[in-house]
Amino acid sequence: NMPPLAACYNLLDFESVARQVMKKTSWAYYSSGADDEITMRENHNAFHKIWFRPRVLVDVEKVDFSTTMLGTKVSAPFYVTATALGKLGHPEGEVIFTRAARRHDVIQMIPTLASCSFDELVDAREGDQVQWLQLYVNKDRAITERIVRHAEARGCKGLFITVDAPQLGRREKDMRSKFADVGSSVQATGGDSVDRSQGAARAISSFIDPALSWKDIPWFRSITTMPIILKGVQRVDDVLRAVEAGVQGVVLSNHGGRQLDFAPSAIEVLAEVMPALRERGWQDRLEVYVDGGVRRATDIIKALCLGAKGVGIGRPFLYAMSAYGVDGVDRAMQLLKDEMEMGMRLIGATSIADLDPSLVDTRGLLAG
Ligand code: FNR
Repeated sequence: NMPPLAACYNLLDFESVARQVMKKTSWAYYSSGADDEITMRENHNAFHKIWFRPRVLVDVEKVDFSTTMLGTKVSAPFYVTATALGKLGHPEGEVIFTRAARRHDVIQMIPTLASCSFDELVDAREGDQVQWLQLYVNKDRAITERIVRHAEARGCKGLFITVDAPQLGRREKDMRSKFADVGSSVQATGGDSVDRSQGAARAISSFIDPALSWKDIPWFRSITTMPIILKGVQRVDDVLRAVEAGVQGVVLSNHGGRQLDFAPSAIEVLAEVMPALRERGWQDRLEVYVDGGVRRATDIIKALCLGAKGVGIGRPFLYAMSAYGVDGVDRAMQLLKDEMEMGMRLIGATSIADLDPSLVDTRGLLAG
């Protein structure tokens, strides 16, 4: 008794359908957050603490929310972020995101732990479609170097190094489900044997190097000309350090609430980061992205008003894919775009350049 796709009117609708139709173990892996899932919930709550200060009597007949990300023109300020193990939700896996992203002219970030092989996802690209690579850094740097050089050779336009996961967080829902199919669901683990007793996440992550540090950044710079973006930065001084390290961007993120419980929401960190950058005149030295809990175009607009270049979206696209395949992801993206157009009109903005801090009231956010 699956509801028709047309009955999904917003991104949250996909979640309730996915919850009913997905395999329990897969649902557990996608939906879980760390520990008591306080951060996962806060990712949503934090957006609710920001209100708009809409402008009226602006000619909003024509609204344009296209923008650029790391030099690539995109039709809307969101991208498909990296989420591991796409085949847990749909037999075709992440290639579905490649197709939907193409249809909508947005960027797909390919995860290190994709179910489809990296080359399969690159081969599925069409025309001038752009993809980025999310990197989990292997203890064996020779493997990491091979992955990075291969990604650049195959045309990836950004290297997103995940920095919030020296150890995978405790996702107890996932651990309880003692994931059984994981061995067949992932391609690129980096070789270590798979221990299935601790859930999907633990089983596939033992190759990740907990010794990764700022000292490694120059080495990444030396092996690639792709823009380097640190994914999972969570405080102002680390953003400043990222500027000093010469990287091209940061993603403020707590990994969808799957790592450190009680880590702050990205939107809250963003509200502190941008003033600190502006104070130093550094706001154009790197691009700042956020992810976590983005479900409505109003969330996207809030992030852009506060200075983000774009937002990443994870679970909603996983749920849309799991429930309805490529048509689901296609519709989810279209719904977001429809919401974007309406949201921009109703706050009195005609282009991304119009979105500035004066359009949001962050007193509730900053008061806690
Ligand atoms: C993730 N995320 C993630 N991040 C990363 O850098 N490498 C990865 O392999 C994964 N895998 C992954 C799997 C699943 C099932 C989820 C839900 C998330 C984190 C992801 O990139 C992003 O930070 C969050 O998903 C954003 O939050 P929302 O949009 O899911 O609320």
